[in-house]
Amino acid sequence: MDFRIKGFQHCMCLILCTIYLVQCVSLYEFEKVGNFAYYIGEGDNASVIFYWFDARQECRSNGGQLVSVVSETQMNDLQKYIIDRRYANGSRFFTSGHSFHSPEPFKWDALQESVDYSKWLPGEGPKDSSFLSLQLIDSQLFMVTSLGFYEYYICEYETRQQKLCKILKTPDFYIPSVAIILAIILALKLILKNSKRKAKEDEQALVGSNDPS
Ligand SMILES: *[C@@H]1O[C@H](CO)[C@@H](O)[C@H](O)[C@H]1NC(C)=O
Ligand SMILES: *[C@@H]1O[C@H](CO)[C@@H](O)[C@H](O)[C@H]1NC(C)=O
Repeated sequence: MDFRIKGFQHCMCLILCTIYLVQCVSLYEFEKVGNFAYYIGEGDNASVIFYWFDARQECRSNGGQLVSVVSETQMNDLQKYIIDRRYANGSRFFTSGHSFHSPEPFKWDALQESVDYSKWLPGEGPKDSSFLSLQLIDSQLFMVTSLGFYEYYICEYETRQQKLCKILKTPDFYIPSVAIILAIILALKLILKNSKRKAKEDEQALVGSNDPS
């Protein structure tokens, strides 16, 4: 018996270690840039253009999220990072910015927050049903609207804390939670009501059986 439990524990440990190793190996190399860590993803030659949702998925499967640019410092750090890597003038990069499911002109999909800091290319600005990309023009990085077909995307490392914060912010999290809580309250009420009624019936039955008449 003892031997079997030990065997089971060893087996579980092996499985967990393997999962952990595979995760480590498959994790992309993020580079620390300022307060964040990024990598720039590219489409292969078979499909030079990347669809936004594919880019988001690719990024997530590597433990990150498409980048959200929340400050001037971050924008400048990104600009330097992109220039240092000698991307061509005019190159465009996907971010997590989109306006498809939002009444706001734009929000960062990865953070579930509105776009507060902005540096639009002159003539560009919030538009309905478009994405927000970054474009390198004459060694400066600007925000531009896009329809979702570009060859590069910037993936930002997502910490556990960010993941948790995001879950707490989504309505998809609250609606089922509230429904479950209501269901539990209703069920408890029913159980209490039933047990009260049962107690009353028992009491009556007891009184009835004690009645000599
Ligand atoms: C992709 O195509 C370009 C030209 O179309 C070529 O110069 C480059 O080497 C190709 N890259 C890969 C990874 O095959
Ligand atoms: C860089 O690209 C922009 C837009 O594509 C263009 O207007 C500009 O002239 C380019 N600059 C240089 C130095 O090629």
